[in-house]
Amino acid sequence: MRPPNWMNMDKGRATPAGLYDALLGGEFNLPADRELAARALKIVPTMAEAAKTSRAFLRRAVVEFAQEGFDQFLDIGSGIPATGNVHEIAQAIRPGARVAYVDIHPVAVMTGQQILRGNPDATAIIGDVRNPDSVLADEELNRILDLSRPVVLLTVALLHYLTDDDNPLDVMAKLRERLAPGSILVLTHGATESFETSQAREVQSAFAELEAPKPITRNYDQVKEFFGDFEMLPPGLVWLPEWRPSPDDPQWFAADPVRSGALAGVARKR
Ligand SMILES: C[S@@+](CC[C@H](N)C(=O)[O-])C[C@H]1O[C@@H](n2cnc3c(N)ncnc32)[C@H](O)[C@@H]1O
Repeated sequence: MRPPNWMNMDKGRATPAGLYDALLGGEFNLPADRELAARALKIVPTMAEAAKTSRAFLRRAVVEFAQEGFDQFLDIGSGIPATGNVHEIAQAIRPGARVAYVDIHPVAVMTGQQILRGNPDATAIIGDVRNPDSVLADEELNRILDLSRPVVLLTVALLHYLTDDDNPLDVMAKLRERLAPGSILVLTHGATESFETSQAREVQSAFAELEAPKPITRNYDQVKEFFGDFEMLPPGLVWLPEWRPSPDDPQWFAADPVRSGALAGVARKR
């Protein structure tokens, strides 16, 4: 699919969604995204593999819960749902599965809407997770999802865009509270343990030109807190490639999972 004309609406500045798409080798990114990706790759050469490892984790989680019988998926901070997207994975296993994508970035959402045209069971809306009540009150979201029934909530590679001033713990507490019992939370987060301090600083300065908050890392204990009192499902909070690994997935970090850059966990609301 050709990138639409309105991709230029960002006046040439890199965005998290575009940068991520560039790292994944997608088609929905601007020259500025590709330049920033190239710069970031010089500092952390494994960043593209890490992004793909993250997508592989997301795929495994969606497959798992679609097979378990879940038919509603809420993907917040979805990015551009182009490269191995949730609705394709879920609907292939469970035709008619309902999927709502939410992202703060208009380009990601408009691209999503274009991709989803003709799919009555999936939608993409603009929303800021820092206002969880308004995200969950969105009319279009509620047209697709029935929040009184269990959903799989995905917050994958999202929360490291929230600073402590954004109160991410409160944000997640509100989201968890609104989910119906039996719902699933799938969450990943860039981990402090993965990066040398000097490397982290360099990445931070390379990302200074991102048209958005810069990603920050948090450590294991801080990431664990986002799950609140939900029941962690095996194998718990682990490095991306360690979560129910599949031989079909790339094995880039098999020898040293810490280098995958992010912790991943899945938990269930009792
Ligand atoms: C690294 S991408 C991850 C995309 C996708 N979840 C994945 O794992 O492939 C992070 C996404 O979060 C979005 N984002 C950042 N801050 C956000 C916020 N406050 N509310 C909603 N989305 C946000 C960005 O626009 C970007 O598309």
